[in-house]
Amino acid sequence: MIVFGVDLSCPVIQTLICVAVVVSLTAVSLLRFYAYISCGYYHGRTRMDGKVVIITGANGGIGKETATEIAKRGARVIMACRNLETGKQVRDEIAETTKNDNVILKKLDLSSQKSIREFAEDVIRTEPRLDVLIHNAGTAESKFKKTEDDVEINMATNHFGPFLLTHLLIDLLKKSAPSRIVVVASELYRLASLNLNKINPTSSWCPAYYYYVSKYANICFTLELARRLEGTNVAANCLHPGMINSGIWRNVPFPLNLPLKLIVKGFFKTPAQGCQTSVFLACSEEVEGVTGKYFMDCAERALSSGATDESKAKKLWELSEKFADLRATDPKI
Ligand SMILES: NC(=O)c1ccc[n+]([C@@H]2O[C@H](COP(=O)([O-])OP(=O)(O)OC[C@H]3O[C@@H](n4cnc5c(N)ncnc54)[C@H](OP(=O)(O)O)[C@@H]3O)[C@@H](O)[C@H]2O)c1
Repeated sequence: MIVFGVDLSCPVIQTLICVAVVVSLTAVSLLRFYAYISCGYYHGRTRMDGKVVIITGANGGIGKETATEIAKRGARVIMACRNLETGKQVRDEIAETTKNDNVILKKLDLSSQKSIREFAEDVIRTEPRLDVLIHNAGTAESKFKKTEDDVEINMATNHFGPFLLTHLLIDLLKKSAPSRIVVVASELYRLASLNLNKINPTSSWCPAYYYYVSKYANICFTLELARRLEGTNVAANCLHPGMINSGIWRNVPFPLNLPLKLIVKGFFKTPAQGCQTSVFLACSEEVEGVTGKYFMDCAERALSSGATDESKAKKLWELSEKFADLRATDPKI
């Protein structure tokens, strides 16, 4: 058979094809093995009985694995999800596999300030304590879209939403101290810069860029939050989970999505590997008292000078108060 002028019945060509396939499979296996051994696993056995932990976006990807790990440790887990249908299935699955029935599901759409306020009111009304708040939910939208609150969708869901939620729950976290806030950011923040004049853009030729900006904002927010919470015994840290095979890549447009699918499936880590640093920061004794830091693979990592710029973080905070519509009656941090 002749394909593109190459005679596939030739034994030399057949041998070359076999060698190429074996080399490719070996390379993929080695890379996957490297991803496995280079992943920072949290092997600690810390129990979390009696603790209350909120995990946003817990119905899939890294959030589902985080919820499972925390439920295994005996905590009361509040899965804060926008999709109650998949949320219910995942909730039941987690309760069954972990033998922890103290896993509950609550509605939270982080792109809606109304939903965030309703969720927070419900938590404050029903939960006497909150030990850990894990800001895990995230979206990477590739089409420019504004939310009902007139905020760009990536920034609303990934930054302004968690900013507002943190304010509304801060008194409960303070009351339950020592308590922790964990923010799932991303190393991809390095692809963005934080233009404070365009933190809520009215248009964009590359909407996906605002995913990176929102992850940059996650880091500046966490560092400023930690400074403002000094002396309260509420710690705030952020992390990069690794490059993970999860739903976050679903909106990458054609034709970029085709090679990306292969890369994500072939080389990226699993969600179970991706949750390790979140779980570590949520419960490890090793990080007791540690605040305002950035982690990857369960170890502290350095940030760019831009991300640690205090004046920039302060300005971002003031702008976030405006775009998250923080009210005079809301708790101040
Ligand atoms: N995957 C990676 O390689 C990677 C790398 C760096 C950082 N991260 C970060 O890791 C976090 C978890 O992402 P993932 O990788 O696990 O992605 P994922 O599989 O897409 O999960 C994202 C979760 O967030 C939820 N979510 C999205 N928009 C929401 C909204 N408006 N309100 C409430 N929940 C919402 C999703 O709910 P639905 O099921 O309803 O959509 C889902 O449960 C994100 O913050 C992401 O930025 C991921």
